[in-house]
Amino acid sequence: MDNNKNINKPERLDKILTSTGRWSRKEARNLIQSGRVRVGGGIVRNPAAKIETQTQTQIMTGGDINNLNINNKNNNLIFVDGELILYRREIWIMMNKPAGYLSATEDGRGAPVVLDLLTPELRKLNLFPVGRLDKDSEGLLLLTNDGQLAHKLLSPKYHVEKIYYIRVSGRLIESDITALKSGEMRLDGKLCLPADLKILKIHAFHKNQDKNKNNLSGELKAELKTGLEPELESEALLILREGRYHQAKRMLAALGKPVLYLKRVKFGNLPLDPDLKPGDFRFLTDEELNQLSRRS
Ligand code: URA
Repeated sequence: MDNNKNINKPERLDKILTSTGRWSRKEARNLIQSGRVRVGGGIVRNPAAKIETQTQTQIMTGGDINNLNINNKNNNLIFVDGELILYRREIWIMMNKPAGYLSATEDGRGAPVVLDLLTPELRKLNLFPVGRLDKDSEGLLLLTNDGQLAHKLLSPKYHVEKIYYIRVSGRLIESDITALKSGEMRLDGKLCLPADLKILKIHAFHKNQDKNKNNLSGELKAELKTGLEPELESEALLILREGRYHQAKRMLAALGKPVLYLKRVKFGNLPLDPDLKPGDFRFLTDEELNQLSRRS
């Protein structure tokens, strides 16, 4: 895929202003025609004037100027009444989705959706989630208005890896790894692409006991000595290469290890930004976006 597809692609000035979500097309035209819009050194009064945008980071809604690497060579900066206008033609946002929100743009029954977590300005920009995380799932969710790249990233053809941290009931064992890897598991009668599982930890505990106190397999022996059968939970990383409905939950349930908690920690080569608390989001950097594009 062409990584540079957005660079130097001329765009109409009124469309650029409208894409910020701050003005309607009509308002943008009025602003331009009344001489309030400057591009680089000069006033531009033609709403249809084509402006070359030089980098994606020039393009941003909101005013988060810290994220921009504006350099002196850039002579196409746009100002309205002297204020630098930050815009992004194709917006890419990384969110740390909290549990309790639907991965949807709206819900007919009024349930909270991930778009509710964005600013009012961003909500106007036709963003949608790239794939889905279940309502009770957390972690890395991309939001964009770039249908073309989103489609590629989600296409089973491209096998973009998604990594999930999971906690399941029961003890994950070698045969679970083999079963997931085999490519012989079926969901809805259709074979799943091979998935990888990396077991991180087995917890042993008794009901009503703090799960975190007896969390290592060494201590499992001590538990067994007491004669009481401990409950077991396992932590693991699951790597999927497609995104079917409830895929992680259904694959693990088929192995008799129901998922108790799921958080997406990586999408393609993008790890979840550890600085993002649940509900937080930020724009992807140019570099991250280029990496994503390259991956597809
Ligand atoms: N698989 C699931 O079962 N749920 C998710 O939210 C993501 C992957």
